[in-house]
Formats: sequence, structure tokens, C-alpha cells
Amino acid sequence: MFKVIVKDNYDEVSAEAFKVMKEVLDTEENPVLGLATGSSPVGLYKEMIRDHKETGRSYKNILTFNLDEYVGLPRDHRESYWTFMHQNLFNYIDIPDENVHVPLGNGDIEENCRAYEEELKKHQVAIQVLGIGSDGHIAFNEPGCPFDSVTHEMPLTEQTRKDNARFFDGDINQVPVSAVTMGLASIMRAKKIVLIATGANKADAVYGMIKGEKTTDCPASILQDHPDVTVVLDQAAAAKL
Ligand code: GLP
Repeated sequence: MFKVIVKDNYDEVSAEAFKVMKEVLDTEENPVLGLATGSSPVGLYKEMIRDHKETGRSYKNILTFNLDEYVGLPRDHRESYWTFMHQNLFNYIDIPDENVHVPLGNGDIEENCRAYEEELKKHQVAIQVLGIGSDGHIAFNEPGCPFDSVTHEMPLTEQTRKDNARFFDGDINQVPVSAVTMGLASIMRAKKIVLIATGANKADAVYGMIKGEKTTDCPASILQDHPDVTVVLDQAAAAKL
């Protein structure tokens, strides 16, 4: 079930997403957090950092599981999702590195996927943060990805590689061709989901997710079956609803 909230600008969207996160942090003792990368959740992470500094909320006993990671980038590459999460959140809160889980995009990929899913399955994710790709992907589950997928390697679409080229000197050739990603079934196990989308280039994907047919052509449409999804949008992303 979707609860859709539309706000006027990115700061208000981030503050609203933080309200959903805060309720979980306030009510559950050491909740397991499912985290996402991309520009959409950066404002939410800023709110979490501000809250940590202002209230002293501790993340010492909190576990996090990230959705995905590029295949082939070293962990310390400036565009790896490991680096992104440290630069946008982990370095500014008191979470110990051993509590942080980000899929490994190097070495034996099949074994990494199996091990990640096994570890994830030991826990109940209390809240999963999501963005959405302009082609309707969530995490890196691209169109056509089966709804029963668990952590796996996914080839990236041309569209996604174009969208993400902005992080790689605008050069699509530098964007990795595949990623390790939690599957759609892995994501659906989360108790609660907060999905953030802003900008006109997300309007079609947001429409497909909420009002479209439930189909693997729009992977996010699987969320129609989830009992608790809050979607926080700006006017541009909500324009086609
Ligand atoms: C990326 C990530 C997704 C993210 C999406 C949108 O490729 N793998 O998890 O939700 O694309 O990114 P952005 O928030 O920057 O628009």
C-alpha cells in the first residue's frame, strides 16, 4: 500500500523522509536499516547526521545493509557505493564499520551475492530507503528482472548508464556495465519502505510504480504488493499521478 506525500522542494522532501526514518529510530530498539545510494537520499542522510549531532542519537548498535554496488570498482574508488555511503553518512555518525554491509563488487561475484543474501536473511530490515531509476529500477533491478530475485549480478541498461555518467566525468564508458544488487524479493522483505523521488525525469517511473500495471517492465511496480510504502515526491516527480 502506498502513502504518497508531495512536497514543494528537495529540502522538504528530505525532511518528510526523515520523519518516517525518525519514527522507526524512535520506536524500535536498534533497528536494521536498509540504505540506498544516489542523489535522492542525500538530504535524508543530512537530516540523520544533523539529528545525530543535535540529539546524540547513537548508531553504535545499529546494522545497515546497502542495496547495491558496482561490479569492478575497487571499494575505495571515488564512485563506489562503499565510498558514497561513507562520504554521505557513515563518516558523520558513530556506526562501527563492522556494522555496515555493502555488497562486494569484486572477486567471486556469485559467492558474494550468495553470502550477502544469507547475511541479510538473518535480519529483519525495519526500514528500507529507496530511490527509483528513470527506467523504473529499484536498487539495480532493471526492467525484466524477476520479482522473485534475491541478491544477484545485474547488467545495467543503457539508460541507467547514461543517467549515472554524470558521476563518471560525463563519460558513459567509465560507468560499470553491471552491478551486484539486492533482488526484488529481498527488498520486499523489509517491514517498511520509504521511497524518495524528485524531478521531472522520474515522473513516468513514479506513475508506472503506483498507477501502472504490475509488471517486471517496471520493477518498482512490485511495491504495489508491499503493505507499507511511503513515497515522498516533489511536484515534478508527482506530475503524472
Ligand atoms: C542508481 C541506484 C539506485 C537509485 C537510482 C536513482 O543507479 N542504483 O539505487 O535509486 O539509480 O538515482 P538518483 O537518486 O541519483 O536519481
